[in-house]
Amino acid sequence: MSAEHSQVSVCIAGTGSYVPEKVLTNADLEKLVDTTDEWIVTRTGIRERRIAADDEFTSHLATKAALRALEQAAMDPAEIELIIVATITPDTLTPATACYVQQRLGAFGAVAFDISAACSGFLYAMKIAKRLISDGAFSNALIIGAEKLSSFVNWDDRSTCILFGDGAGAAVLRKASGPDDGEILATEMGTDGRQTHLLNIPGGGSACPITIENADKHLATMSMLGKEVFKHAVTRMKESAEKVIARSNLKPEDIALVVPHQANLRIIDAIAERLDVPYDRVFTNLQKYGNTSAAAVAIALDEAHRSGRIKKGEHVVLVVFGAGLTWAAAAIRW
Ligand code: ACO
Repeated sequence: MSAEHSQVSVCIAGTGSYVPEKVLTNADLEKLVDTTDEWIVTRTGIRERRIAADDEFTSHLATKAALRALEQAAMDPAEIELIIVATITPDTLTPATACYVQQRLGAFGAVAFDISAACSGFLYAMKIAKRLISDGAFSNALIIGAEKLSSFVNWDDRSTCILFGDGAGAAVLRKASGPDDGEILATEMGTDGRQTHLLNIPGGGSACPITIENADKHLATMSMLGKEVFKHAVTRMKESAEKVIARSNLKPEDIALVVPHQANLRIIDAIAERLDVPYDRVFTNLQKYGNTSAAAVAIALDEAHRSGRIKKGEHVVLVVFGAGLTWAAAAIRW
């Protein structure tokens, strides 16, 4: 019986990721806004990020990551039954980016929809897909975190534009056929809608449509009270990770690797310390990509897996935090 008392174990059959070619370094940002490489590295750990081309949309990034995950899972797109794209930067408000991904993959047998949970979206998608597979509604799912945040960043605001980047990560989930396949042991997620003001894109929706009168006010770009977000992030990510570790009947020393949301090295340091997990068992790649929101943990998981940091049978904890506020975690036996 799995840690969440389901009859059916669900495993990760493959992971994939994709980041655009264009690199934007801290030195490049020094030319755009009043900042320094030293400030950015000291406060965040970020050294560079990737920026998608003008004709490269969220669905393109998502599709490339998905193809890599499908290849690793040795699955054809036609076999996929469910596609969930987690994004806050959809190609269009409607239809869902998942529909464009379905089209690009030729995965016409799949039900496809998006979810919006900011940086927590990939693990929200994992929990939804896991439950739908274990309930028997689908036998597999392609979950993707994908963002083109560069289209929603105020490039005049030094307090946010230095943080974000573009990219996508994906995973194929399916019914496990035996213990060797590994298992998603426990998942958990949470939301605090009292904190919507801390991190949002205020314009572009029904509350504040972009008009000719307000078009120059950068309303459809990321706005954040960084210090407040920071405090909530540390508390919620620690609690969330502890819950999935306990529900999986594990102890911190059983965890081979923690793969956290990649927003800020100082947040990651604080969580590792509070979870009592040594820093060499915490995966980071935000130095190269910045914060790619829903894509961040998915890209990190794929890089950790492909670089050999996760071995068969080992326990991995994923933990994320984002606008909403939202948070989520998953414990996996690989
Ligand atoms: N370069 C130089 N100085 C800067 C910059 C910059 N790029 N940005 C801000 N400053 C200045 C500020 O103006 C301020 O100056 P002042 O003291 O004269 O007023 C000073 O630096 C300190 O600014 P703070 O905002 O207090 O800096 P802080 O140490 O809090 O770091 C940061 C800011 C990096 C944003 C941090 O608060 C953070 O990482 N917060 C969490 C973000 C996060 O985790 N988001 C997760 C979810 S993202 C999502 O869901 C999409």
